Amino acid sequence: MTTDATGTGVTEQALASLQGAADPRLRELLTGLVRHLHDFARETRLTQQEWERAIAFLTATGQACTDTRQEFILLSDVLGLSMLVETVHGHRAPGATESTVLGPFHMTESPVRALGDDIDLAAGGEPCVVSGRVLSEDGTPLAGAVVDVWQADDKGYYDVQQPGVQPAGNGRGLFTADSEGRFWFRTCVPAPYPIPTDGPVGGLLRATGRHPYRPAHIHFIATAEGHAPVTTHIFVAGGDYLDSDAVFAVKESLVQDFTETDDPSLAREFGVANPFRHARFDLVLECAA
Ligand code: BEZ
Ligand code: FE
Repeated sequence: MTTDATGTGVTEQALASLQGAADPRLRELLTGLVRHLHDFARETRLTQQEWERAIAFLTATGQACTDTRQEFILLSDVLGLSMLVETVHGHRAPGATESTVLGPFHMTESPVRALGDDIDLAAGGEPCVVSGRVLSEDGTPLAGAVVDVWQADDKGYYDVQQPGVQPAGNGRGLFTADSEGRFWFRTCVPAPYPIPTDGPVGGLLRATGRHPYRPAHIHFIATAEGHAPVTTHIFVAGGDYLDSDAVFAVKESLVQDFTETDDPSLAREFGVANPFRHARFDLVLECAA
């Protein structure tokens, strides 16, 4: 039974209804959610029409999800929620590689590749080499660490966005670090790209006057025994949108030079034409607690 125009009665009833939840964490989460949702509706004086509009938006967001598209993750990303959760829980030991958002395009397994392989299967973009080591916090090389890599092509699309246009697995690779923890692969210099704007999230960006672009980047997940995995990116230094990433995921330590390199013997070693662009990036993992 509700009694007052501010709705505190219904808030109390809704909160009380959750107290029987057997799982204390579920109780805590739902209690917080109800409290904040009710305060939000009270503060903004949310109208019935606006509530209906919000329900229609969330319904459309769910309907836009498929096996290869995750519009809800995208919504979380553009509202900064993904990066907030990441920031609150992503604390690392000093010197360990910082993490950033997973994003919605890691939905397919990366093909296993040999060190030095080219993941730009369409060979469309400016060639580059990415190399580095996977290390423990104290600098010990992590032999056998696994480095999962995925990136958009030089036009800014992931393979899963263009089935039949790009070969499956384009821009993806699962590499195993050598006995000295080293990894290296060939690819193309990534380009900035717009996140998908043909769904409800695109409508939200347009309604709020926001651009949809992400700065050029390559995604990584590094895993090694006895260590906490890290999900991260490297961003191309000097590129556009580093200061206005649509999903707020740039961290300064992750911005890396893709250096113009004129070194015929190194080019031969990596199997690329000289000169070439070269990004060097170590992945430093925290010891598992
Ligand atoms: C990505 O980098 O793949 C990404 C991250 C968040 C939203 C859209 C794309
Ligand atoms: Fe991406």
